[in-house]
Amino acid sequence: MILDNHGREINYLRLAITDRCNLRCFYCMPQSGIQYINRSDLLSYEEMLRLVKVFAAEGISKVRITGGEPFVRKDVVPFLSKLTQVKGILEVNITTNGTKTLPYLKQLEDMGINSINLSLDSLNKERFFQITRRDIFDQVHETLFALMESTIKTKLNMVVMDGKNIEDIESFIELTKHYDVAVRFIEEMPFNGTLGQGNQELWPMKKILGHIESKFQVEKLIDQKSSTSKNFKVKEYKGSFGIIPAFTRTICGDCNRIRLTPKGSLRTCLYGEGVINFRDMMRNGSTDKEIVSALKVALNHRAKNGFEAEKRRDSNIPISESMATIGG
Ligand code: 5AD
Ligand code: SF4
Repeated sequence: MILDNHGREINYLRLAITDRCNLRCFYCMPQSGIQYINRSDLLSYEEMLRLVKVFAAEGISKVRITGGEPFVRKDVVPFLSKLTQVKGILEVNITTNGTKTLPYLKQLEDMGINSINLSLDSLNKERFFQITRRDIFDQVHETLFALMESTIKTKLNMVVMDGKNIEDIESFIELTKHYDVAVRFIEEMPFNGTLGQGNQELWPMKKILGHIESKFQVEKLIDQKSSTSKNFKVKEYKGSFGIIPAFTRTICGDCNRIRLTPKGSLRTCLYGEGVINFRDMMRNGSTDKEIVSALKVALNHRAKNGFEAEKRRDSNIPISESMATIGG
């Protein structure tokens, strides 16, 4: 078991396997002009598997695969299969935009993927296009229903954006009436690749909840330890919903996670900067023992919360890095 300097148990790794994506969500990436990372600078699958094995031996038991869009990286499915077999890894979860996921669903079920978070910010084709800047709603919609019928737990991620998808909050809640799905409303963060974009008027957790409570009879659910969402359900509805205070950061107290960026940099907080580059260590011949020592040093210097991590950043420029290069 690994503890950080604030006594928090770290058991969860978020692994961003690519910065590439076939959508251009407003809150995540600029419309054009993105400089993708060179392939040779990405962690290879072999390097990722080595790190996961080393971390698992120290107490990491859950992995989430994110990006960018994981399914745009070549040969991701055999990689996922190997990942599910790593000793000590009890859960493999995936976050995907659902545009390329459907053909692999059966394989993902068979290899025992625990849950899939589908990033879907609108149930309306036109608004989906406005947000993602791509006309591909129908495939994602089909994926959503296939997922809800599969054996894989399904969660929906919806970033709440003033003037863009407020109407959808109600539609997503309605979806939980007949489907056993967990919808999570996420506060928009400034990680969008463009300084000054987004966050025009933030919808903080309280406002999102108030909005829902004005229309539905809401019950509080018990939150699991280290859950990033505060969870609720509408009385007599099958599914549930949660709100993630990603920007107001009221959940850092029992944060159990670390992140690896596509270039192999370790982030001990979303709001902080890279603290070690494991890719460089591995390519320079470091041993597994040296990797573990470096991880432990980093976890001994972890910021208490997202505000402290943000303050510690070297640069004075406000945060605008895309989630796709950090790991969503
Ligand atoms: N604010 C909030 N959430 C974001 N995501 C990406 N960018 C942002 C942002 N600026 C989330 C999306 C997606 C996941 C990969 O990351 O919800 O589901
Ligand atoms: Fe792609 Fe996800 Fe970013 Fe949208 S949020 S552009 S789907 S990486």
